[in-house]
Amino acid sequence: MAEVVIVPSAAAAGVLVAAEIVALIRRNRESVLGLATGSTPLPVYEALRAQVGDLDLSGVRGFALDEYVGIDPSHPESYRSVITREVVEPLGLNPAQVRVPDGSLAGIEHAGEDYERAIRDAGGVDLQILGIGTDGHIGFNEPGSSFASLTRVKTLTQQTRADNARFFDSVDDVPMHCITQGLGTILRARHLVLLAFGAGKAAAVAGAVEGPVTASLPGSAIQLHPHATIVVDEAAAADLRLADYYRYTFDNKPAWQGL
Ligand code: PGA
Repeated sequence: MAEVVIVPSAAAAGVLVAAEIVALIRRNRESVLGLATGSTPLPVYEALRAQVGDLDLSGVRGFALDEYVGIDPSHPESYRSVITREVVEPLGLNPAQVRVPDGSLAGIEHAGEDYERAIRDAGGVDLQILGIGTDGHIGFNEPGSSFASLTRVKTLTQQTRADNARFFDSVDDVPMHCITQGLGTILRARHLVLLAFGAGKAAAVAGAVEGPVTASLPGSAIQLHPHATIVVDEAAAADLRLADYYRYTFDNKPAWQGL
């Protein structure tokens, strides 16, 4: 089953996950990171900046989960811009080694396949950071997404557009379509680390971790993965039936195991 770690705050989650990423890069300087956007992963990136010290990041490669379709890459809320601003620049990663799905209209028909090939050519993702939407999406795989899906164009739900309206002038400015790694793509990553904070995520987290495995709640795909870690604050953990067991398990975990 997925391992659930309940932490006191988003900042504490960031420190924990960043330490795992640093350990990964120490083992392999050419590690491949799966990068998420949105508010949730920001504490991880912040903690990483604090923890990298003199670690050599020049070999690190990265693949973002998703991008809006038809947005100008230079738009401040394109995921290309967000990844550049929040991850590539602050950590000093090589921008040529960090890819975001290409949401340009020209060539969109084969952008998904191109992205899948690039991930394969890089040897696959070692550690995939994930957030979860209030509707249970991971990446932009909205409810109903096939567990076998690969990178492709999807239509955002009205719920997701409303959730993301805070990044734009109005909900009407949130693009209608996106290109996202599929659930099948995400499940190929060697380690999934899903983070969620706040009461608004409690139902989605409980459904993903303890509910039935169903395309109606795409986050439940994590139950099919041999190495998935869920890091949540108390508010996001509020609906978990086995919360005490998760706490007990983590408190008694051998230190050598890492996350
Ligand atoms: P958020 O989004 O981190 O901004 O809450 C999560 C998601 O939609 O996957």
